[in-house]
Amino acid sequence: MVSPFAFVKRLPLFAGCVIAAASYPAIPVDLTTPVHQRLAINGPNAISVGWNTYQKLNQSCVQYGTSCESLTSEVCSTSSVTYETSRTYSNAVTLTGLAPATTYYYKIVSTNSTVEHFFSPRVAGDKTPFAMNAVIDMGVYGADGYTIEMDETKRDLIPTIDPSLNHTTINQLANTVDDYEFIVHPGDFAYADDWYLKPKNVLDGEDAFQAILEQFYNQLQPISSRKAYMASPGNHEAACQEIPYTTGLCPAGQKNFTDFMIRFGETMGSAFPSTSAASAARISANKAQLLAKPPFWYSFEYGMIHFVMFNTETDFADAPDGPDGPDGSAGLDAGPFGWPDQQLQFLEADLASVDRSVTPWLVTGGHRPWYSTGGEGCAPCRAAFEPLLYKYGVDLAIFGHVHNSQRFVPVYNDTADPKGMDDPKAPMYIVAGGAGNIEGLSAVGTNVSYNAFAYADDFSYAKISFLDEKNMQVDFIRSATGEVLDSSVLHKEHAEQFVVQ
Ligand SMILES: *[C@@H]1O[C@H](CO)[C@@H](O)[C@H](O)[C@H]1NC(C)=O
Ligand SMILES: *[C@@H]1O[C@H](CO)[C@@H](O)[C@H](O)[C@H]1NC(C)=O
Ligand SMILES: *[C@@H]1O[C@H](CO)[C@@H](O)[C@H](O)[C@H]1NC(C)=O
Ligand SMILES: *[C@@H]1O[C@H](CO)[C@@H](O)[C@H](O)[C@H]1NC(C)=O
Ligand SMILES: *[C@@H]1O[C@H](CO)[C@@H](O)[C@H](O)[C@H]1NC(C)=O
Ligand SMILES: *[C@@H]1O[C@H](CO)[C@@H](O)[C@H](O)[C@H]1NC(C)=O
Repeated sequence: MVSPFAFVKRLPLFAGCVIAAASYPAIPVDLTTPVHQRLAINGPNAISVGWNTYQKLNQSCVQYGTSCESLTSEVCSTSSVTYETSRTYSNAVTLTGLAPATTYYYKIVSTNSTVEHFFSPRVAGDKTPFAMNAVIDMGVYGADGYTIEMDETKRDLIPTIDPSLNHTTINQLANTVDDYEFIVHPGDFAYADDWYLKPKNVLDGEDAFQAILEQFYNQLQPISSRKAYMASPGNHEAACQEIPYTTGLCPAGQKNFTDFMIRFGETMGSAFPSTSAASAARISANKAQLLAKPPFWYSFEYGMIHFVMFNTETDFADAPDGPDGPDGSAGLDAGPFGWPDQQLQFLEADLASVDRSVTPWLVTGGHRPWYSTGGEGCAPCRAAFEPLLYKYGVDLAIFGHVHNSQRFVPVYNDTADPKGMDDPKAPMYIVAGGAGNIEGLSAVGTNVSYNAFAYADDFSYAKISFLDEKNMQVDFIRSATGEVLDSSVLHKEHAEQFVVQ
């Protein structure tokens, strides 16, 4: 984190000699051209297609089908939304009733768009092995991004070609696109709030902020237009905390998750209806659907897994969402998005609904970890969430926020589970925050006894393979080379249909 005070002190130095120059991408001549294309799993047998345009659309439509020559279905929406400081409008439609695990071709209706394709979601209970990737804290590359801070030899080149081609993580995700079925990204996209780190942006915060968002979501498009890209919030989606409020420099669009909410609000789903034979599970799942608040907290099912996203930024006791102050807050001045306790009630109902005979694997995603080397854990997050994750037998908890890769043996209340990786009761925790962003990687820091792996030498991410109902493999991948840095298998018997109900 760069100190806000350093910024304030430096500002006068730039004031006289820097010409404001936000690096906006060119606006396409054809204003119906789709940009920032992004897919998401949005209900059973359903995929949402989201995209932005540089004009408001009266009707947003997607044509699709199982052959690229014959896109026989069409779905439209009339929602085309924006916010005060944005140049683009966010559009979304949801393709429902898809045949499961099938390649579909789709075309966003525009006078300037191409046919893309995706693999439709597996139904809950499909026991076919598959992998998903966890990519967190990934930011923009190019003129407004850095790579590894302070070490030029480890920086990717600032490209003159399409930046996505030399973003090592995006590049690796593209090279291995057939090896995984979707991506989860719990928080910190673009790092647009870090606009002030580039001197050229200092006098042009509002445009620099928007320009970084536009660049980043273009860079992500080769992946997010092919694979469901499941998002939840991180501090950088709300943060003005690195610019003191008193300076008045925080652009309106940067506050209170504005861009995140508009961009992902209509593409992330609620909770799924349960397909369990047990009526208590179906009742809990219905309750979770009512309590979900996408894109902040929600869940989905995919083959062997039930995945729950939760929000470590707002909506629980002592969340880091208050304005600046001595309350332990990180100064996000954001939220709440639900009524008091709505998120925790959701989490409890959702976790209780998980029938292990349908979805043996229960995985969660959140931004701030509480287990982390280097002492960067979020204590209020832990107080709010750890007891629930333990109680309901979560198998794997995925976090970011700390910019490196870390794996912990199953642990609860700072104590390693005596059964280790062989059918523990406690969740296994990972941090997959090393995907690459302007702030650089974080040092591994002080070890803790229940840490099993930590890596901060280069960009990396996690690949999680569900091998069968009882075995799950976590691999940390070095983005630049594809090398497997660490590999582990968690064995769970999943003997109980419901851990608690
Ligand atoms: C059509 O879209 C491509 C990118 O998909 C863009 O480069 C090009 O400028 C667009 N053409 C027009 C006429 O807007
Ligand atoms: C949307 O509808 C309005 C009113 O009917 C029309 O003036 C405008 O040109 C339309 N915009 C587009 C992009 O078709
Ligand atoms: C990406 O960067 C490497 C150097 O790190 C360079 O050798 C390579 O040519 C670049 N790739 C492209 C497509 O420009
Ligand atoms: C943030 O937005 C939510 C809903 O959009 C609103 O209820 C809340 O009051 C806002 N918080 C702040 C600090 O502006
Ligand atoms: C957690 O561990 C501490 C000791 O380290 C103990 O005092 C406390 O009761 C434990 N809490 C729970 C919920 O097990
Ligand atoms: C941290 O300590 C544990 C146990 O002492 C050890 O197994 C592990 O390799 C260490 N981790 C790192 C990153 O050094």
